[in-house]
Formats: sequence, C-alpha cells, structure tokens
Amino acid sequence: MQCKMDVLNRHPSWRQSANRVLERCEQLAQCSDSRIGLTRTFLSPAMDEAHEMVVGWMREAALTPHVDEMGNLIGHYPANETNANGKKWLFGSHLDTVPNAGKYDGALGVLLAIEVISQLQGQPLPFAIEVIGFSEEEGVRFRTPYLGSRAIAGTFDPNLLSLLDHNGVSMAQALRHFGLAPEGWEHARYQSDSILGYLEAHIEQGPLLETLDAPLGIVTDIVGQSRLQVRFKGQSGHAGTQPMNLRRDALTAASEWVLAVESLGGATEGLVATVGSLDVGPNTPNVVAGETVCSLDVRHPNDSARESAVEKLLATASDIATRRNINFEILARSSQKAVPMDTQLREQLQAACDGLSVNAPEMVSGAGHDAAIMAMLCPCAMLFLRTPGGASHCPEEAVDLDDVALALEAMHSFLLSLSPETGELIESPTF
Ligand code: GLV
Ligand code: MN
Ligand code: MN
Repeated sequence: MQCKMDVLNRHPSWRQSANRVLERCEQLAQCSDSRIGLTRTFLSPAMDEAHEMVVGWMREAALTPHVDEMGNLIGHYPANETNANGKKWLFGSHLDTVPNAGKYDGALGVLLAIEVISQLQGQPLPFAIEVIGFSEEEGVRFRTPYLGSRAIAGTFDPNLLSLLDHNGVSMAQALRHFGLAPEGWEHARYQSDSILGYLEAHIEQGPLLETLDAPLGIVTDIVGQSRLQVRFKGQSGHAGTQPMNLRRDALTAASEWVLAVESLGGATEGLVATVGSLDVGPNTPNVVAGETVCSLDVRHPNDSARESAVEKLLATASDIATRRNINFEILARSSQKAVPMDTQLREQLQAACDGLSVNAPEMVSGAGHDAAIMAMLCPCAMLFLRTPGGASHCPEEAVDLDDVALALEAMHSFLLSLSPETGELIESPTF
C-alpha cells in the first residue's frame, strides 16, 4: 500500500508540479463548446482556445509547438548534440472530449507530459522528445475515433474526409475552417524508424486500482472494440389514429434490441456492449417513430469473442425487425483489435515504479486509447492513474493529487531510464 505521508515527505516538488497540472486541467476545462459542462470536439472553437492555452504551457516548458495537418498539437523538445540519428521519444494523449465530459480523460496525459518536460529545465537528452495533444480520440464529431493518431501512425483513411458531422459539415471543410489543408493529411505521418517509443499516461476510468489500493497501474493490453451504426426503418404515423396492431414503430423495435444488447453483455464473461445513442425520426410526441438510428459499442479482451458477439447482436436485430415488419440495415461499421503494449517498455515502467516503491499492478484497459493506434508505429506503454469512484466520461471524473505527483515522478524516472549520462539508451527496446 502507498503511504500518503511517505509521498508527501519524499516528493515535495513533484507535489507542487502535481498542483500545477491539476490547476491546468481546471483551466483547460473552461474551453468548452457548450456553456454547461465540458464538451470539446474535434476542430471546434473550444479546441482552438484549448490549443492557445496548451501552446503557452508548452512554450514555458521549452517545447516548440505546431499544429499538424490533422489538427494534432505537437510540442518539440530538441535533443543534445549526441543525437546524430534524429530519433525522438513521444508522450501524449488527446485533447478532445465526449459531451459533458470529465476534466481528466485525455487532457491529464498531455499536461502530465508537459510538466515532466518542464522539469528537465531545458536540459536536452540524447534524443528529441515530442508531446502530442491528439486532436480526436473519442469519435464524437464524425462518429469515428482516433483520427489524430491514425494520421500520425499512417493508418488514416482519406475517404473519411468526406464524412459529415451533425450539421452537414464535412471533415475536409472542418479542417479547412480550422486553418488546415486537408489534402496534406499524409504529411502528418511519422516514420517508424525515427520513433523510439510512445508513453501515454491516462486515468484508469474504472474502479480496479481503487479496489487494489494502488495509485498507478501499468497497462498490458488495450481491449478491442467494435463500433457500429445501425438503422431500424418502419413507417411514421399518427399517434392518435394508428391502431397498435398496424404500427411499424422503429423506436419500439430499437428499444427491444437495446435490451437484447444489455442482456448479452450481462450474460457473457468479459463482454461489455452498449447502445449509447439513439436518433429517432421524426422524434415528435404525437408521431409513431418511422426511423431510429442506434450506435453500438462492443468490447472484449478476446477479439473473436467480440466479433462473435457483434454477429449475434446483428442477427438479433434482424430477427426483431422481421417480426415487426420493419427494415434493418448497418450504416457504418469499424473495429479495432485488442493491442498489447510493448513488453520491454512495460518492464521499464514497472522498474520506474518499483524504484519509487509505488504499487503499480498490471491491468488490461477496457477503454480505447491513442496508444492502441500508435502501437502500429512504435513500441508503446501506458501508465494509468487511479480514478477515485471509478467514474469517467461524466463530470464526476476525479483524480488524487498524490497520485498525480507519483505519476509525474514515475514518468520522469522512466524517461531518464532511457537516457543515462553516457547518452546511451539503457536496454533499448527494439529501438
Ligand atoms: C474512449 O474513451 C473510449 O474508450 O471510448
Ligand atoms: Mn474518453
Ligand atoms: Mn481518453
């Protein structure tokens, strides 16, 4: 167990740093697209304000900022003269949020990294460092996640540029409106031989570390996820005159399916399945719904278990639609396989935590992260911070000051374990 007094006695300056990080999380949370609560979506005016704030903090930490073609904010910290091969280490997380979000999902990882760099006090290491504030991880605006990291990792599909948001604005138009050139999307790509590795710090977003009384955790794997958009299409009608037995109600069909999704999730070990969004047409009290578009989010540590759950749920939807004499179709479908984190980096992160006598158990991440995409580019590791109450994707999200101090110290120590005085990397992980 981590003794709090120990933490206070051992890490007074890291505690000050942690205070600064948490103050900045508060400040960043003021950059919101909505007046009530925190909502900051891809390429929105609030994201522009957030960039302005983070750019200031990057400059204070001696990071030189720029925004790439996909709207990622990147701060560069140059290497010392021993870095003949121009390699760089990456830190990062995302700056976008879900609607009515907490203040820490994504933002905390970016601000922790900036603080770690500021503690280098301008002293260069034998490799360059970049802190990336990814532009889009949540998939809120265009219903497709990881746009920023996909561009950097070289897995961005340019067909996505024609996707429309809820207001009919295409991704290409949104990029242009943000001052970017969408046709240059390929320039955001990094070459894997120039990257040493990537570390993302993030709140756990669940209750496990709290249950284990552990301030930090080390991610072994990021679970796979499937995201779909499906449509039930029936027939609109007058709510007062249309007999119940003649209705082709798309909303009641969707509702039956929503319950089936919950029930399969509850009955299958390791599976979580969620319908988090319904778009009902015409969405009017005195009209039988003619159309309902539903989202589906399915996750499982085992990819084939996840895929078979998706197939089962689609078959159930189709049965419900047939029985109710309405149509069912899949509008969009994407999936991300489970991704293991790099074994050697995990060990180095564990060694950094052990060196500070911090209990940091290994765990699987049920949430998706940019690290899952960056793993296609370079070796990746993730450090989790305990999430008091386990709440996330909601305003109740919290983090403990002492845990933030420990995360900073662990990240700093991990970074230095990659750069001894000699300028050689220790146990260079497949670098
Ligand atoms: C990202 O936050 C996700 O796991 O949906
Ligand atoms: Mn999130
Ligand atoms: Mn996140």
